[in-house]
Amino acid sequence: MLRASLLAAARSRRMRSLVEAVPATRSVVRRFVAGAETADAVRVARELAADGRRITLDHLGEDTTDAAQASATVRAYETLLNALGAEGLATGADVSVKLSAVGQFLPSNGEDVALENARKICAAADAVGATVTLDMEDHTTTDSTLGILRELRAEYPWVGAVLQAYLRRTEQDCRELSGPGSRVRLCKGAYAEPEEVAYQGKSEVDKSYVRCLRILMAGKGYPMVASHDPRMIAIAAKLAADAGRTAEDHEFQMLYGIRPEEQRRLAGEGNTMRVYVPYGDEWYGYFMRRLAERPANLTFFLRGLATK
Ligand code: FDA
Repeated sequence: MLRASLLAAARSRRMRSLVEAVPATRSVVRRFVAGAETADAVRVARELAADGRRITLDHLGEDTTDAAQASATVRAYETLLNALGAEGLATGADVSVKLSAVGQFLPSNGEDVALENARKICAAADAVGATVTLDMEDHTTTDSTLGILRELRAEYPWVGAVLQAYLRRTEQDCRELSGPGSRVRLCKGAYAEPEEVAYQGKSEVDKSYVRCLRILMAGKGYPMVASHDPRMIAIAAKLAADAGRTAEDHEFQMLYGIRPEEQRRLAGEGNTMRVYVPYGDEWYGYFMRRLAERPANLTFFLRGLATK
């Protein structure tokens, strides 16, 4: 119930102005977001690199219906990738892109614009030795996102995508995306989805996650295990070992600010550990989804406001 309300609020303009208007919100948001500027993203990338953690950087923003805004997002990624290159941080780095931030929802030719814009980001990543992974948004965008992924991979075979285990279709998508070179970031899923398309209970979602992991680990692609759940991590480690995978052919991923000690532990044990680091001004939707995932985060947020 609370999760559903927070996810509904994540898409409400009215709630957004209310939450953003509270000055103290920003300092609480800082737990999950690196900062507003490119320099903040680069600083956090350097800090994480110091203890062996890799990065995927997300320039915050989503659901744009403004072509100029979509182009500005592309420029932000180009600036970021150039900065990472200049700082010697680009090799092995990744950027995460929401297609709805680069034009997917534009009223005319949205998909074409998103494809062209994503292509520009891929070219900038290619130039500095980084990779791109397409985030996955709500289920109405899945086919479009996977279609754009196919087009991009024809030119840049290293482009990856997120699949969400809560969707009933995802086992089949995992099968289709488990071929050589295919980078799949498997997560549980963070949006409010109807029963017809998505498992609703935690136990059903977890079982689906494990079925998807089995397919990906047994396949020929590069599985990226995006979860903070200790059970999922342990199962993924076992499946990877059973499949003879080394730290070079699968990885673990977590969100910035969540279970940092576990991130350090996994990296310290020789695993490839990547942290998803969001930065920028458009933090509202991302932040609300983090609150929805864990009631304790809401308490932390409210306590933070109360003590300011
Ligand atoms: P689960 O929610 O069961 O949590 C397991 C444990 O992890 C909790 O008990 C708690 O200890 C910790 N935890 C989880 N979430 C927390 C939080 N917000 N704050 C504090 N602790 C928390 N989703 C999506 O729909 N599309 C996408 O593109 C992505 N991309 C993405 C990339 C990466 C790298 C990650 C790690 C996650 C995503 N997600 C996502 C989000 C994902 O779908 C999911 O909502 C969260 O990862 C939480 O699910 P867990 O697997 O961590 O398990």
